[in-house]
Amino acid sequence: MKENYMVCNCMQVSYNKIADALEGHTKFEDVLGLFNAVQAITHCSTGCGGCHDKVLEVISEIMMG
Ligand code: FES
Repeated sequence: MKENYMVCNCMQVSYNKIADALEGHTKFEDVLGLFNAVQAITHCSTGCGGCHDKVLEVISEIMMG
């Protein structure tokens, strides 16, 4: 398992928090849909917004296994 690290500093959302928020999602068809789901749970990327691409990358990484 990958080491945990902070993805969104503003909202203190870590890699593991994003992974938890993705729990139950098995399909990787709509990365923006997943992003919205993760954001609704963790509030990531609602501060400065600078982590947006990083969050998308982490979601892709987790969903692609
Ligand atoms: S680092 Fe995520 S909103 Fe600023």
